[in-house]
Amino acid sequence: ETVEWEAEAAEKGGYEHYMLKEIHEQPTALRQAISGRLDELHGDVDLDIELPEEYLQSLEEIQIVACGTSYHAGMVAAQLFEEHASVRTSVEIASEYEFQGGRDPWRTLVVAVTQSGETADTLSALRKANRSGARTLAVTNTVGSTATREADHTLYIRAGPEIGVAATKTFASQVATLTLLSVYLGRHRSELGSSRASDVLASVRNLPGAVQQALDAESQVLEVAETYVDSDAFFFIGRELGYPVALEGALKLKEISYDHAEGFAAGELKHGPLALVTPNTPTLAVLTEGTRSKETLNNVKEVESRGSPVVGCSSLEDGGLLDAAFDVPEIGVMEPLVANVYLQLFAYHVANLKGRPIDKPRNLAKSVTVE
Ligand code: G6P
Repeated sequence: ETVEWEAEAAEKGGYEHYMLKEIHEQPTALRQAISGRLDELHGDVDLDIELPEEYLQSLEEIQIVACGTSYHAGMVAAQLFEEHASVRTSVEIASEYEFQGGRDPWRTLVVAVTQSGETADTLSALRKANRSGARTLAVTNTVGSTATREADHTLYIRAGPEIGVAATKTFASQVATLTLLSVYLGRHRSELGSSRASDVLASVRNLPGAVQQALDAESQVLEVAETYVDSDAFFFIGRELGYPVALEGALKLKEISYDHAEGFAAGELKHGPLALVTPNTPTLAVLTEGTRSKETLNNVKEVESRGSPVVGCSSLEDGGLLDAAFDVPEIGVMEPLVANVYLQLFAYHVANLKGRPIDKPRNLAKSVTVE
């Protein structure tokens, strides 16, 4: 018993929970994800996936399938694939996926995003895609997993093992790896110029350091968590790349704190959710590059005028309206991922203040192998 406990404590490397350890491992995980893959000078990436040139050029559609946190990473990727590679991209919850008739399977790529490579819903979607004749790509953390054996191609996110049920570092690594994939697609399809590609790659290169800066500000996140721990509910808002980050921030909080938390597209607040906003429902807003933050600030005003406290994850110079602001370094397109790190820390500290069993939240499993 004692020996086992000591072994576990050692594995947590001095952190109270695996989740906190894994949040702090993100700079390292990200460096692993990008190591050897960036050619910033030429605006190129080397991903070790052999998709035929002709196929890449005639590609008409990408369908991303995933569950949970991986689905949110897929939502980020979909926007980047469209922007960098000019290819129509949909992202579907794997358990809802059906290959649509009428689409040309030969010109379709189905990307299954799955940390474990074993999620039954995602594997089932992958099998449907395989049967349709579409080319398939697994984006996963797990070498030799079922997804890697069944997909035509595999791209590893190289995050290292994740023990906490709530996915943290693997989300960051998924987004970083999928960003590189967006550059790969954009370059091979001649839709992304080398200088724009270099800018994206520079942002990816600067990400580990920027994430470290967010981690260094953890005491500030703890203070904010202490201020709002007893709230009735928590809302997360963002636009564009900030929208999936808002959804992910809410998912983390509900998974481990059991509080009511919802993520909204900021512009959608006024179409219903605003009715839920009170002085006892803080709003966390993503206000960075790639999130149309100026427009989101209008939505910040909407909730503030209903008395809701607002916490921003912000790279804006003037965060003046906010009750608290976590500082996101200006690194360009990858800034929303830094905002996400603050939201992870926020979820962690709210849950920890409540004494929740953070690494093993009730009713949840790390890998769900039933449909
Ligand atoms: C479970 C886990 C989530 C995870 C989801 C998808 O629900 O609790 O944290 O995001 O499965 O897992 P995958 O391994 O496919 O990324």
